[in-house]
Amino acid sequence: MSSDKTNNAGERGEREINEKDIRSLDTALRPERWDDYIGQKQIKDNLRVLLGAAKERKHAPEHILFYGPPGLGKTTLAHLIAKETGAQMKVTSGPAIEKVGDLASIITNLSPGDILFIDEIHRLNKTIEEVLYPAMESGALDIIIGKGPSARTIQLELPPFTLVAATTRIAMISAPLRSRFSGGIFRLEFYSDKEIEEIIRRSAKILGVEIEEGAVSEIASRSRFTPRTANYFLKRCRDFAQMERTALSNDIVAKALDMLGIDKRGLSPSDRAILSVVIEKFAGGPVGLGTIAAALSEEEETIEEFNEPYLLQLGFIERTPRGRSATNAARVHMGHKPVPSEQKLI
Ligand code: ADE
Repeated sequence: MSSDKTNNAGERGEREINEKDIRSLDTALRPERWDDYIGQKQIKDNLRVLLGAAKERKHAPEHILFYGPPGLGKTTLAHLIAKETGAQMKVTSGPAIEKVGDLASIITNLSPGDILFIDEIHRLNKTIEEVLYPAMESGALDIIIGKGPSARTIQLELPPFTLVAATTRIAMISAPLRSRFSGGIFRLEFYSDKEIEEIIRRSAKILGVEIEEGAVSEIASRSRFTPRTANYFLKRCRDFAQMERTALSNDIVAKALDMLGIDKRGLSPSDRAILSVVIEKFAGGPVGLGTIAAALSEEEETIEEFNEPYLLQLGFIERTPRGRSATNAARVHMGHKPVPSEQKLI
């Protein structure tokens, strides 16, 4: 998450699940072996073949792009790829690469076979993207030195490397950039409740806390099908139980999560504010994303990236050509009467 958004959220005090805070705990609970990585079976199976074959041919694997909502394990997969290939991984992000020189310095310092992980690659600017193309394709970096008539291009040869990139916004990746991920473009899916429960049990073990089965399912059912959220909730519930001098039971977990403003379906106050606006101010929609964002003094991008994927997954909102609409399931959840389908203005 960009720092500007984080500050914004901090000022408003509303984005209770702060991406930055949550991300910092990822490392401790992040699986370090493929066998410990729960879920995303199809992606794991494909990667096993891709990496295995490259290893046998003694080649660096081809470039890989992961996309999907935040918190589903894109970075974790990148780390596991580095482990599997026995390579070093250099980590950077789209917003951190501001100038062509930044990229040049990162890439020319790679050792043969290294993994370069670029998070939030959708935020890379166009000029840098164009320098990246030949680097991905032919292992060469074209750099323009000087300006005007005396400008000249030098070509630096690069060591073979694998670019692993991640984005929450696949639509913002240009077609030419997409086409260079010859190893594959993988979409991470939301996790099943069962998988989230397994992750919670594993994390509790790592944290050294006892957790009752009822508490595991209570956390899982509010975790938005997302491991990062599940782990964050587990930690907050552990704190709560510790201060109450009690065990991690179903009851305690429900209290702790209620206190965080997370409801039974895992909706946060900002999710509920979105649904309220659509249902109460705009008669259930359809209403444009820009209008929703303006009504909430929120950024469109934030709503699209952090709130909508889960609301869509739950079937609480629908995207129509004329904007977003709330479904009857959302109305009922928010304490409103469902509307007969013929009255819906979709
Ligand atoms: N922690 C976070 N994501 C995980 C996953 N997919 N499997 C196991 N532990 C995790």
